Amino acid sequence: MMQIHHIGYLVKNIEKARDSFAVLGFSVVQNVIYDPYREIDILFMEKGGYTVELVMPKSDTSVVSKLIKTYKNTPYHLCYESDQLETDIAQLSTSGFVQIDVPTPAPALDNRRVCFLMGVQIGLIEILEK
Ligand code: NI
Repeated sequence: MMQIHHIGYLVKNIEKARDSFAVLGFSVVQNVIYDPYREIDILFMEKGGYTVELVMPKSDTSVVSKLIKTYKNTPYHLCYESDQLETDIAQLSTSGFVQIDVPTPAPALDNRRVCFLMGVQIGLIEILEK
């Protein structure tokens, strides 16, 4: 069974975004970490059991740099934690979700693997290995 892990936010300026979430009562749970696979800075914050992941592209070749040009500062994925990563990806792939990358370690999450899928009806989701 998959549980919701975090809501991913695209942000242009991670420090300013952190300050805005602090105004809303969120606390930093882990300092900024650079993810060389995706060329992004990542910061996790938490409030009342809800976790947000602030994602800032660090280069024009980053996988999210195109997204942020289109969508600006915005939530852009919900991440689900899975205790059977390959099985859940396979099941989603037969249920209207299109796998758009391969499971890749996430340095900001103890190098647990993550994989992104596009839901035709609901947009981007992320699956995180438990
Ligand atoms: Ni995420």
